[in-house]
Parts: sequence; C-alpha cells; structure tokens
Amino acid sequence: MVVRVSIIGASGYTGGELLRILALHKEVEVIAATSREYAGKPITHVHPHLRGFYGNMRFIEVNLDKIMEADVVFLSLPAGVSVNYVPKLLESGLRVVDLGPDYRLKSPEDYMRWYGFEHPQPDLLEKAVYGMPELHREEIARARLVASPGCNSTAAILSLIPAIKERLIDLDHIAVDMKVGSSEAGRNPTPGTHHPERENVIRPYEASGHRHVAEVEQELSKIAGRELRIAFVPHAVSSIRGALATSHTWLNSGVDEVRIVKAYASCYGKEPFIRIIRGPPVGYPDPKYVIGSNFADVGFAYDGRVGRAAFMAAIDNLMKGAAGQAVQAFNIMMGFDEREALMIPPLKPA
Ligand SMILES: NC(=O)c1ccc[n+]([C@@H]2O[C@H](COP(=O)([O-])OP(=O)(O)OC[C@H]3O[C@@H](n4cnc5c(N)ncnc54)[C@H](OP(=O)(O)O)[C@@H]3O)[C@@H](O)[C@H]2O)c1
Repeated sequence: MVVRVSIIGASGYTGGELLRILALHKEVEVIAATSREYAGKPITHVHPHLRGFYGNMRFIEVNLDKIMEADVVFLSLPAGVSVNYVPKLLESGLRVVDLGPDYRLKSPEDYMRWYGFEHPQPDLLEKAVYGMPELHREEIARARLVASPGCNSTAAILSLIPAIKERLIDLDHIAVDMKVGSSEAGRNPTPGTHHPERENVIRPYEASGHRHVAEVEQELSKIAGRELRIAFVPHAVSSIRGALATSHTWLNSGVDEVRIVKAYASCYGKEPFIRIIRGPPVGYPDPKYVIGSNFADVGFAYDGRVGRAAFMAAIDNLMKGAAGQAVQAFNIMMGFDEREALMIPPLKPA
C-alpha cells in the first residue's frame, strides 16, 4: 500500500527532515510540499542535500485542493498557524500529524497562558493524541490527529518517565536543565539565534516560564497520577543539532542504583528507539552520538551520598525531537512497522 503524503511547511528545518526521512520510506509517496517563499522552485533549491531523491519536485503554495489529494498531511508550521488548516483536513477524512504546538495541550486556557492565543477548536484538543509512542502507542494507532511533541519536551519527558513511573523520586522537587542546539529555533534568524550571535554561547533563555514546560507537566502529571510542577531551564548551546535534558531529583528513601537500573529496563527495555547508556566508552547520554538518528539515549547519575539522582536524555532535536518522532507516530497510525525509514544509525563524527 502506498500512502500519499503532503507536507505543509516543507522549506523549514523540520519539514526538510520529514522529506529526508520519507525519501527512504517504502510505503510513502510525497505528493505536495509547500513553501510560500519558494513556491515554484525545486525543493533542492532549499534542500540541496536531497538532490537525487525527489526528481524535479517543486514547492507549491499552500493550495489545499492539491494538498488534500493526500491520505496524510504533516504540518511543520509556527505556533498558531496549524489551527487554520487542521479542521478542514480532518473534515475531508485525512489523517494529520502536526509538528507544531497547536494541539499538544489538553486545556484550551493553557493556549492563552503559554502561547498567547485563544484556541479556536477546543473540541479538537480532546481528540488529538500527544505523539510520543513511549507514552501513547495504542492511542496513536487509533488517532486521526497526532500532536507531535516539542524537542525540549521530548528530552525532558523521556529523561523522567522511569523515575516517575516507578516512584523513585520526590515528586515535589524536580528541576530540568536543558541544553539545545540552534536548529531548534527554525530556519529564520532572529537577533538571538543568528549564527554570529549564537556561536560559542552557553546561554540560558526563557529560564522560567518556557512554554514547553506546559506539555512536560501535562504528560508527567498523567504518569504521576497527580499534578506536578517542574522547574525547567533551557540553555542555548553552540551546536546545530542536539538536545540534552539533565533532570535533577531527590530519591525516595531506600532507592538505590539497582532499583534505578531495573526501572529503566522495565520502562524502556523493549522500546525500539530508546538506548540505555551505562558505562564506557561514554558513561552518560551525549547528543553527539544520536545526531541524524531517531534514537533517544537515556541514563542517570546516582549520588547516594546526597540522596539524589540526575536523569538524562539526549536526542537530535530535529529527529526524535521532531520529524523522526512524527514519522514514528505516522508509522504506528498507519499500521506500518514503527521503525520503517527510521533505523538510521547516528553520524560519527558529527
Ligand atoms: N526546530 C526544531 O528543533 C523543532 C522541534 C520540534 C518541533 N518544532 C516545531 O515545528 C514547527 C516548525 O519548526 P521549524 O523549525 O521547521 O520552523 P522553520 O524552519 O521556521 O519552518 C517553518 C515553515 O513553515 C512555513 N510557514 C511559516 N509561516 C507559514 C504560514 N503562515 N502559512 C504556511 N506556511 C508557513 C515556512 O515556509 P514559508 O514561509 O516559505 O511558507 C517554513 O517552511 C514549529 O512549530 C516548531 O516549534 C521544531
């Protein structure tokens, strides 16, 4: 079975990654890729690395008649834009995977608070499934609308699932320290993300109240069975790709290293894209060793002396943090092997 796919926002970084992954997908034909700025130009004009994969395919304007010839539509758009397209796509019977934040949060009020707009379709927030397979695999399989998680959120949540699920930590004192590369900000430079300003930095930004904390708290609260409040401090770092969450926690009494190892094995032992990192040659997750892949490397540092542990997750923000995870969810939704087109080893050196 060949599934026809359209991508709205295909000239951006996550749209480009979707094109790169889907070029390898045995069951997919990409029939439309939009860019308002580059409409009419070959997709290789913006994505020269894809030469030889899409023939002479050209970007089109956001022409819904053409886009809706597909079976599934991916949207790689800035916050607040997908809401303009998704209802019509769903009404036409298409399935949708949105890489932006417009359907990630369940509470409509949260959109005003975190994103500054009133959500026009609260009913769809109920129906959307948060597209993290490690949490919602069965719901994704039944979904018509998948809200693919944010990059920082993916790393933060994956770092903390075993600790929270297996009741290892004090749930009232969790602090996530994030480091993330420049591609998380998308292709258009701003005064803070323009290369000369961004190179060689280790810079905290939105160090309290970063919008990604909303989805982190939402998803981890479900696992905890009660509302969590989590401190979350992102840092912009010099690399282009990669995100590392280091989650600082205090251990419940009696929790030792063996229990933590067992918690990891029970939560992640069967996950196709989670690698548990223990010991040499590199003792802890490092984004450098997942670049270009859909893997999330997870691990921890146990400090019995002070009764605490740091839980870590490293991802490529454009892959497991965006397009890779979105295709993983798409595969589940369409009944394909979850790993199709995604079993790409990371690059080294990167
Ligand atoms: N970058 C990451 O690491 C990452 C990770 C996870 C999730 N995300 C989320 O994924 C979404 C896309 O991120 P990105 O990094 O790919 O952004 P990007 O590089 O800035 O690309 C945005 C794309 O959207 C198109 N676009 C912008 N405004 C539009 C509009 N009003 N109507 C139609 N198309 C429009 C742009 O093309 P034209 O202007 O030419 O039409 C471009 O193709 C964002 O919501 C982001 O938060 C990003």
